[in-house]
Amino acid sequence: MEVEQTLILIKPDAFKRKLTGKILQRFEEKGFNIMQLRTYDFTTEKAQEFYSIHKNKPFFHELVSFICSGTVVACILDGNNAISTVRIMIGLTKSFDASPGTIRGDFGLGISDNIIHASDSHESFIKESTVVFS
Ligand code: CMP
Repeated sequence: MEVEQTLILIKPDAFKRKLTGKILQRFEEKGFNIMQLRTYDFTTEKAQEFYSIHKNKPFFHELVSFICSGTVVACILDGNNAISTVRIMIGLTKSFDASPGTIRGDFGLGISDNIIHASDSHESFIKESTVVFS
């Protein structure tokens, strides 16, 4: 067990639907600490940098375009095993496959519009938090 930090983005679909409070409440109730919190409006350039790991994927353009389509809420969470535990809490990428009880499973049906993003590794956290918080 290791205290870690991870980054989440509440995506434009969830922000527009005013789900921010409900989503953050789940992480607080689980025991995570909110270390940093801000709204953020991605430019295309910043979105391409944030998602550069996916730059050769067929859905890259759609991904960048969606994250730029509205305001997001970015948050750094801190707690035991934050990276893997938060990924379990958000559920599978395709919201329609995500289990009930997970955030995507409870609130979404989409793929690009899948409510929330969370870092998948410490390296991703460093890179993503640098894009959004520096
Ligand atoms: P996210 O957690 O933000 O990280 C990468 C994103 O790529 C993922 O959420 C999805 O929104 C998106 N994604 C993954 N697979 C596909 C796909 N087949 N079509 C469109 N977007 C996808």
